[in-house]
Amino acid sequence: MDTSAFFDRAPTLFPGDPQDTDPIDPYWDQVKADVTGFTSSNELAMLNLAAEIMPADEAYLEVGTFKGRSMCGTVRDNSDKVFYAMENFLEFGMAGQEARAELMDNLAKYGKGADVRLLEGDCFALMAQKGIIDRPVGVYFYDGEHTLLAHYLALAVVEPLLADEALVLVDDATWPVVQRAHRLFLERHPGWTIDATWDAKSDDDPRWANGLHALTFRRTGPTVLKGRDEWLRRYQVHLQNRLNRVAWKAATKFPGVMKFGARIIMGRSRAIEQKQD
Ligand SMILES: C[S@@+](CC[C@H](N)C(=O)[O-])C[C@H]1O[C@@H](n2cnc3c(N)ncnc32)[C@H](O)[C@@H]1O
Repeated sequence: MDTSAFFDRAPTLFPGDPQDTDPIDPYWDQVKADVTGFTSSNELAMLNLAAEIMPADEAYLEVGTFKGRSMCGTVRDNSDKVFYAMENFLEFGMAGQEARAELMDNLAKYGKGADVRLLEGDCFALMAQKGIIDRPVGVYFYDGEHTLLAHYLALAVVEPLLADEALVLVDDATWPVVQRAHRLFLERHPGWTIDATWDAKSDDDPRWANGLHALTFRRTGPTVLKGRDEWLRRYQVHLQNRLNRVAWKAATKFPGVMKFGARIIMGRSRAIEQKQD
């Protein structure tokens, strides 16, 4: 993936600085209005451009598809590309069948002719399976679980799957917890740079949701997931996921208590400092 082509063309989708303007094409607002989800119009424009620039012998990988808003925007006019979507249908008390059905309906409407391959399950287990993706990943969009460990692993576990040059887009990246995970990861792994940060000015900013950061990966040598990173992955897959399942079940039964608990535990790590223009 020619990442510099992405960074050169990204500003041309906007009438001014992407940070402070909306995309020129109103299509993204239509997708946002029609498909339940979390991605903003500015983000949809960026994801779609990334998929357009990615060569067809590489794959686009999304983690955290929910009801498909981001994927519906990404695939537009990109029917010659291959898209993988990983989703475990766990968050938001999602009744699996219901959410899956909505996702399929949305893809049928917005993804006609697109080659979207849904991989259902935990992304940290799926990404470690040999041969799960049939070609190097040129673009990776992470919009899954938002804890420190999940964001660290989101980069560690995907690295062996990435093309020698790849674009990595991370949602909710204005949150301190995401930036801390990126700092920890980049200190320990060569080949990564953070090249653009489109930040949210407030929680759920209509323009950039909770922020989108664009990272570039350039391989400096072969990568195999091992040692500390592999142990962390096993902890996440075998223990943390079970705890998450229990927590989401409890959240469905006792929404008030769990919301309060989550605010206490995660409040500061996900708080966006209000910025003045
Ligand atoms: C914020 S939503 C994604 C929003 C979506 N991209 C959109 O445009 O609306 C996060 C999704 O990640 C999924 N998720 C969380 N942890 C996951 C994991 N370990 N593996 C796969 N999917 C996961 C959740 O079930 C949830 O649907």
